[in-house]
Amino acid sequence: MGMRGRAALLTAAAALVAGIAIAPTTAQAATSQPCDIYAAGGTPCVAAHSTTRALYGTYNGALYQVRRASDNTTRDIGLLSAGGYVDAATQDSFCSGTSCVITIIYDQSGRNNRLTQAPPGGFNGPAAGGYDNLADATAAPITVGGHKAYGVFVAPGTGYRNNNTNGVATGDQPEGMYAIFDGTHYNAGCCFDYGNAERNSRDNGNGTMEAIYFGNIKAWGYGTGNGPWVMADLENGLFSGVNPGYNANDPTANHRFLTAIVKGEPNHWSIRAGNAQSGGLSTHYNGARPNASGYNPMKKEGAIILGIGGDNSNSSAGTFYEGVMTSGYPSDATENSVQANITAAGYAPGSSGNGLLTPGTNISLRATTACCATRYITHSGATVSTAVVTSSSSSTDKSNASWTVRAGLADSACLSFESRNTAGSFLRHQNYQLYLRANDNTALFKSDATFCPQSGRNGQGNSFASQNFSTRYIRHYNNNVYIASNGGSNAFDATALWADDVSWVVTGAWTP
Ligand code: AHR
Repeated sequence: MGMRGRAALLTAAAALVAGIAIAPTTAQAATSQPCDIYAAGGTPCVAAHSTTRALYGTYNGALYQVRRASDNTTRDIGLLSAGGYVDAATQDSFCSGTSCVITIIYDQSGRNNRLTQAPPGGFNGPAAGGYDNLADATAAPITVGGHKAYGVFVAPGTGYRNNNTNGVATGDQPEGMYAIFDGTHYNAGCCFDYGNAERNSRDNGNGTMEAIYFGNIKAWGYGTGNGPWVMADLENGLFSGVNPGYNANDPTANHRFLTAIVKGEPNHWSIRAGNAQSGGLSTHYNGARPNASGYNPMKKEGAIILGIGGDNSNSSAGTFYEGVMTSGYPSDATENSVQANITAAGYAPGSSGNGLLTPGTNISLRATTACCATRYITHSGATVSTAVVTSSSSSTDKSNASWTVRAGLADSACLSFESRNTAGSFLRHQNYQLYLRANDNTALFKSDATFCPQSGRNGQGNSFASQNFSTRYIRHYNNNVYIASNGGSNAFDATALWADDVSWVVTGAWTP
């Protein structure tokens, strides 16, 4: 179906939700986007955050703001057209040759409920003044509707917040929320949340939050399988159902693009989820407030958090693409129409190359395996490994994890990676392990230091085949880096996780 057909379908879906009949029209109507659908259902958005697309058919403002490291200036990132997709090319050119962080995620609802760097609270963040880190603006490349876009990549220590909101539910007032996450990026730290939290960044007791949680921490609630699970963070508890611990109806949810929903009203709340690329929503819980004290009635405070717990716990990980909060308890039918809009939007993993694999460009290479998605290829002298790097890392750690893309020393159709802080030294393999070595200009060195990029074997980023062992790809294994085949005699050739371990997201360099 073409976009125009989709627009008509979605407009009709919104009208259906509103219970009104509309005549077919050939006039060009604004596409009905998630917040139009919520409004038609009588539960309007009071906050609408996205780095990928407009959440209203008429929205034509900025989606988010980035700040680049080279001169600390900022740039708003807007849309290709009103109601449409993000103009990521503006970010790419502004951040070219440097690195960028996301400084503001604007609120499209008109209520100015924007998200900015989270301040310290019950816990300090790792950045100056106890603030949380800001997200690397290039760490989560994707496409939406065929257009390049970036998500908000939350490494542990990263967090966004607004403690001074307007129109967000407080007390026991009804509200709804959805978010689209990367269902393969999570951890067991507390707490990758999006939603309603305390206004002072502290734990103010049971029932003072109502946020979507996503991850596999089992300290509070959990569901079936090994996780991750969509749960509700209601403060001092992540709830997968009515019981404080295990609830059998909350399944592991790990779609690459995951729609996650939590909604609550007096003595009633729900968890719903689905695949943001296709199909409908499942209801994982729909019933009374938890059978633990303090959660009925709720004491919501109406701040908004992203990537952290209510008390600024900040050891969690995840990736956010878009999300909204509503006033009023949305009907399942309204959310089903929103899900139809989401699946029609066309979320897809990042395009190959990411525009950064160009000779002369400074990059960093981030692992994509769930264990290790905050680790980057780095060196310490000649030793090459992966290590966690964040915006709070030392300048040495950042530059050790930064590489200049060069035309392949042995084949200019491929690439070589020169150390950012050790000029003339390149990543090369020896006995199948990667080292940083000075270019000795031998033919063997040049071949061992040449890698041919292709699309990431797990659908994310890129994989890099060795030029002289073409079935072997740059792989991390136990945090060391090798060229590995998919099965073979070495432990690092293990087939398990091979596709993930050989797939790397190319980001702007930690040291531009
Ligand atoms: O409810 C789980 C977590 O507990 C909250 O996010 C945090 O505020 C507290 O530590």
